[in-house]
Amino acid sequence: MLEVDNLAKRYGDVLALKDLTVRVEEGQCLVLLGRNGAGKTTALRCMGGVLLPTAGTVKVDGIDAAEDPAAVRARIGLMPEVPGLYERMSARAYLDHFGAIYDIEPGLRRRRISELLETFELADAGDRWLGTFSKGMRQKVALIRATLHRPRLVLADEPTSALDPDSARRAWDYLRDLQSEGCALVICTHSMEEAEHLAAPAKSGEFAGSPGAIGIMSAGRALAIGNLSKLRRLSGLKTRKQVRQLPTLQDVYLAIVGSHHGLAETRSAGDAAAGAAQRFGGPGGPSRRNGWPDEERIVNV
Ligand SMILES: Nc1ncnc2c1ncn2[C@@H]1O[C@H](COP(=O)(O)OP(=O)(O)OP(=O)(O)O)[C@@H](O)[C@H]1O
Ligand SMILES: [Mg+2]
Repeated sequence: MLEVDNLAKRYGDVLALKDLTVRVEEGQCLVLLGRNGAGKTTALRCMGGVLLPTAGTVKVDGIDAAEDPAAVRARIGLMPEVPGLYERMSARAYLDHFGAIYDIEPGLRRRRISELLETFELADAGDRWLGTFSKGMRQKVALIRATLHRPRLVLADEPTSALDPDSARRAWDYLRDLQSEGCALVICTHSMEEAEHLAAPAKSGEFAGSPGAIGIMSAGRALAIGNLSKLRRLSGLKTRKQVRQLPTLQDVYLAIVGSHHGLAETRSAGDAAAGAAQRFGGPGGPSRRNGWPDEERIVNV
């Protein structure tokens, strides 16, 4: 699907990318990690045909990006690091505009746009100008734009860096759904959780079990590429003995936010969320302040 050979990019004196060779097959995800300035965005932009490499080749579905950039671009969806959106267009009109450029039939693109705005909780804001959108809302629109035409390959540069944890999970689920339909992904990120999640073998679909890879970049070079077990081996670190796994910060955050939403319902309906609400000092709890959980009780949970 994606074949990258000896890719290099020089900006003046800076050799931003050196000799990157990698393959990504259908339904697979390659995650690029690395410090600021390591060359991740440069690699992604070269793969997407928006940046001319100094050396090396990129092929998508066997088509050389240097020989037929238009054919390669038609097969990919590129989500840039900083989404440049048209400020004076509504989200719906903007996505419809790109859907038309991608040649998606009008009825189908309206349906898809509505579904995706719904998925990313933007349905109510869909008719507002993009200039009024928050950073996270813009990032969601950029992700929808990059994937609207169901490309064979999605290249996404820090796709969830501005998203709240709940929305990030939605974005990951969405990307994994695309993957299970055979879409290949290349993602740059600084989130270890995102990397582990997206590079894990697909659980369902035709490509179930197909392992992803994580590439660790530094100073323009890919230091190591492989799945987590391979990277663990390459790292030379000894196994860590763990009696049991503790919940992650994200799990705790979601539980607390979920209970707080339960709080609002409990006030009117007195429903089953009361138990969870009380644990966080909600209605019926001994020390409720303005409907917000009591900090001390949260500390004690
Ligand atoms: N347009 C440019 N002109 C000159 N140098 C550039 C340009 N774009 C990037 N660079 C340089 O290339 C190197 C790699 O940058 P790149 O944006 O690919 O890093 P990155 O890994 O994506 O970093 P980050 O994690 O901060 O997004 C850096 O040294 C950067 O300064
Ligand atoms: Mg970058």
